[in-house]
Amino acid sequence: MTESGSGSTQLRPAYEDVQAHYDLSNDFFALFQDPTRTYSCAYFEGEDTSLEDAQLAKIDLALDKLGLQPGMTLLDVGCGWGSVMKRAAQRFDVNTLGLTLSRNQRALGQEVLDAVETKRSRQIQLRGWEEFDEPVDRIVSIEAFEAFPKDRYAAFFDTCHRVMPDDGRMVLQTIMGHPLKRWPELGIPIVMSDLKFMRFISKEIFPGGAVPCDEDVIEFSEKAGFAVEELQYLTPHYVRTLDIWSERLEAARDRAIEVTSVEVYDRYMRYLIGCSDFFRRGVSEVGQFTLVKR
Ligand SMILES: C[S@@+](CC[C@H](N)C(=O)[O-])C[C@H]1O[C@@H](n2cnc3c(N)ncnc32)[C@H](O)[C@@H]1O
Repeated sequence: MTESGSGSTQLRPAYEDVQAHYDLSNDFFALFQDPTRTYSCAYFEGEDTSLEDAQLAKIDLALDKLGLQPGMTLLDVGCGWGSVMKRAAQRFDVNTLGLTLSRNQRALGQEVLDAVETKRSRQIQLRGWEEFDEPVDRIVSIEAFEAFPKDRYAAFFDTCHRVMPDDGRMVLQTIMGHPLKRWPELGIPIVMSDLKFMRFISKEIFPGGAVPCDEDVIEFSEKAGFAVEELQYLTPHYVRTLDIWSERLEAARDRAIEVTSVEVYDRYMRYLIGCSDFFRRGVSEVGQFTLVKR
């Protein structure tokens, strides 16, 4: 098994790491997610926008950048519970193919998609992008990139480039950090509590992943043959998303403990509140990259 280079068919996706997070309990996630079960930064267009509308607005923001035409096939890398695929099938009359490493997401997401009125195919597969090599027209990937180790970035962008036609377009939404050396010039003091929180996230919440910086996405996507058409930052929207999630989870504390445990509840509260603080202070950022094939 190689860990780098373009031999992506030889890479094994991190099933255990990803399942440790997402296969906890669908009921638990539903306590704080909106009804579409979207698990990424929303996009609030107004003061009164609900979380559900903001999630749909974020999905639309991404889909509208792809130039989708009826009958095309859209690949969603890291499709979660299928909300992006559902919206794409409904708004653009496209075939959708989603990849996830979570059994729970695949089972429930497929049920949701089966209920969509469309003649187009919509299929969620329990498969990593590392195992995928079929032609598609467009790619969307919303906050899955953070789960990939850095030594797979080259293989990931190579695969995305290879499976799309010459006019291929891709939208990649990802959380980003800054290299520590950039913190002083950004006015972010380096304090032990922040470093501890980062360690907590990488050990206990999202094991196996890595937080990229903007330059990583630009450098690796360009090397694979993409041009970065746009980078749209959504950072303040993650503060609001995370604050709503933590308020909802706190309001559902008893039920959350019933379906998981006190430890899980406490861990998630720490994670949601701490991440909101990171986005508020600019320690973390989130943005949508539009990548086009050169
Ligand atoms: C934070 S969730 C985002 C889900 C969805 N895009 C959304 O916005 O609601 C990350 C997703 O990435 C998926 N994922 C992580 N590593 C993956 C890999 N190597 N191949 C495919 N999917 C992966 C997980 O299974 C999960 O569905």
